[in-house]
Amino acid sequence: MSKLWGGRFAQSTNQFVEQFSASIHYDARLYPWDIRASIVHCRMLARQEIISQAEAEAIVQGLQRVLAELDAGQLPFQVSLEDIHMHVESRLKALIGPVAGKLHTARSRNDQVSTDLRLYLREQVDALRQGLRAMQQALLDLARQHVETILPGMTHLQNAQPVSLAHHLLAYAEMLQRDHARLGEIRQRINQMPLGSAALAGTPFPIDREWVAEQLGFAGVCRNSMDAVSDRDFAIELAAACALMMVHFSRFAEELVLWSSPLLGFIELPDAFCTGSSIMPQKKNPDVPELVRGKSGRVFGHLMALLTLMKALPLTYNRDMQEDKEPLFDTLDTVQSCLRAMTELIPGITVHRETMLRAAGAGFTTATDLADYLVRKGIPFREAHEISGRTVRLCIAQNCTLDTLPLAAMQQIDARIAADVGALLTLSASVNARRSLGGTAFATVLAALDAFQDILNEEILATC
Ligand code: ARG
Repeated sequence: MSKLWGGRFAQSTNQFVEQFSASIHYDARLYPWDIRASIVHCRMLARQEIISQAEAEAIVQGLQRVLAELDAGQLPFQVSLEDIHMHVESRLKALIGPVAGKLHTARSRNDQVSTDLRLYLREQVDALRQGLRAMQQALLDLARQHVETILPGMTHLQNAQPVSLAHHLLAYAEMLQRDHARLGEIRQRINQMPLGSAALAGTPFPIDREWVAEQLGFAGVCRNSMDAVSDRDFAIELAAACALMMVHFSRFAEELVLWSSPLLGFIELPDAFCTGSSIMPQKKNPDVPELVRGKSGRVFGHLMALLTLMKALPLTYNRDMQEDKEPLFDTLDTVQSCLRAMTELIPGITVHRETMLRAAGAGFTTATDLADYLVRKGIPFREAHEISGRTVRLCIAQNCTLDTLPLAAMQQIDARIAADVGALLTLSASVNARRSLGGTAFATVLAALDAFQDILNEEILATC
């Protein structure tokens, strides 16, 4: 078959090279955006009188037929046609004849592929942001049931201070809030149109790039034709934002794995999201969080692949850049599926409040409250810390907890400790003492939860 670019070639392409260089098996997913951009480009050519109205009409109708064929899965792919752009154009030619060749006036695959990719990514970003909102809502719903559920807050994976479970869950909602904002910023840079840059230098035809951009919903046009066809920053920063999302998901996943282990027994995961063991009948394994944790690795790898792909490439387009798609597409597919898995799993979590509460009491987690009590008596914090530490040591020796250690024993360590300390050393007193902005007191957490819910509700209203 003769190539659409075959004019200067005397030999046909090596068959292995055709396979080696084809991208159709992965870039086929760009077809809806490829055709949409082609239709607008074609209408612009007619508006600018670069082609006739009749020609444009024939091309647009032909493109719509190609679109329908692709939607129906009726267009066979062949490596000799390289990529999706060539498939569309060659099918168009088969349908409407040589006039199809006018579509590629004032355009190159270099500005075309970047335009398609940006249109596709723009939708992907919007879907990711929606997915983040859904996961946030799942976290908020669970948090609302657990404002007064206490678990041990940890540092170094050691019991540190008791906290509200809702506070812990809201920490993840905050991370996703930053992810959401980050994607919003990246979207603005994705949403600039390269089309009209042609191969690299612009075009002699009197095109109207602004009109095309407006029709395609782009916020503006890329200002430098050479940058436009060689820039993949937008893809890399999206991959980086996805990697960071996976960092967040993997931390949450890891906590679910830990919490659901019989070692802690804080939660039970829904059966539908776990699997058993083929040999140990008692096992219920947290596969979904484990896979989310594990899939972070491939997303980080894709980010590295994209950075390495673009490093030191001379301007402008290089065929290397075709390799941007697989890592990028797999990144998006992976992050989307992890978002979905997490969002659907969260409502099925059963929380064992009593176990969490018991664990929160272990490890003298109210020792800071004792020190804070002494500070309020005028003792410098460092000295108060020392006194509280000695009290913990005594508890360890006597195998009791801070709130069960007899007052007399405490007073032997420091006479300034009085009976009023008792009420401060319980877990709920400790949690509720932390009323500072951003702290874990029940009332503070409830207010934070309401404020967060308002943000999500306002957005729902704004999009209605
Ligand atoms: N399939 C190519 C890619 O994804 C499209 C651009 C090809 N341009 C070219 N000059 N060979 O990069």
